[in-house]
Amino acid sequence: MDEDKNPWDTNSEWWQKSFTNGENAEYSQQLLPLIVELTAGFEKVLEIGTGEGQIIRALHEASVNAIGIDSSYKQIKHGKKIDPNSLLITSKAEYLPFRDSFFDASIACLVMEHIEEFEDSIREVSRVVKDGGRFVLAMNHPLLQSPGSSWVEDWNTDPREKYWRVGSYLREERSEEYFPDGIIIPFTHRPLSRYVNALSDSGFLTTRMIEPEPFTPEGKDMEWENENSFIPRLLLLVCEKSSGSK
Ligand SMILES: C[S@@+](CC[C@H](N)C(=O)[O-])C[C@H]1O[C@@H](n2cnc3c(N)ncnc32)[C@H](O)[C@@H]1O
Repeated sequence: MDEDKNPWDTNSEWWQKSFTNGENAEYSQQLLPLIVELTAGFEKVLEIGTGEGQIIRALHEASVNAIGIDSSYKQIKHGKKIDPNSLLITSKAEYLPFRDSFFDASIACLVMEHIEEFEDSIREVSRVVKDGGRFVLAMNHPLLQSPGSSWVEDWNTDPREKYWRVGSYLREERSEEYFPDGIIIPFTHRPLSRYVNALSDSGFLTTRMIEPEPFTPEGKDMEWENENSFIPRLLLLVCEKSSGSK
């Protein structure tokens, strides 16, 4: 892959500085412990789109054998530098370099939104996870975080009302997310049904759905804290691979 064309190569340093190694409390205090809990008891675990491998390191600390793949060469290179013992491979999720049924479980965290042909990736996950195995799909909540969703504050009411506007949920679109310092990350919004149906078509039965209460950093405006806690930012689908599926 042409390095310059992969936004995750171009922006790998930004991701690493902003979201890894304890820099992002939502990760360190919420997502990582939850993922470790959901993969506990599985022997061989594959992470799809591992970035610089923070989930792999958390799984290793929990004594889980885990391998991470990512299409960004720079993310993988950085991950190997942080921990030379981490098993990290440059590979695309759409073509996994593993034999059928090799893994007991797999996890994809905040990745599928960045993959255009995501159904191919889900099929690949299903191929490499054994029957009875688990797949955990963690995403930005497709319904409540659809593009255009935001708080709206109504100054015409007394007392002022605040409500969460949901954007164009059913409109599937590839767009760009803008972050400070000119960082642009492309992502695709899809309705939740696309994910659930793709999972089901690939032999994954969704057995649990988790909508964690948003992590509120200390010192945040108290007036908003209560409202914030009722609108999830993340969604995790816990799926079991049904026997007999391809
Ligand atoms: C938001 S980061 C998440 C990294 C990691 N899962 C975590 O939670 O720390 C998304 C990652 O997905 C990777 N990615 C995007 N498209 C991919 C693809 N087709 N195959 C494999 N990895 C991909 C990117 O390179 C990036 O590192």
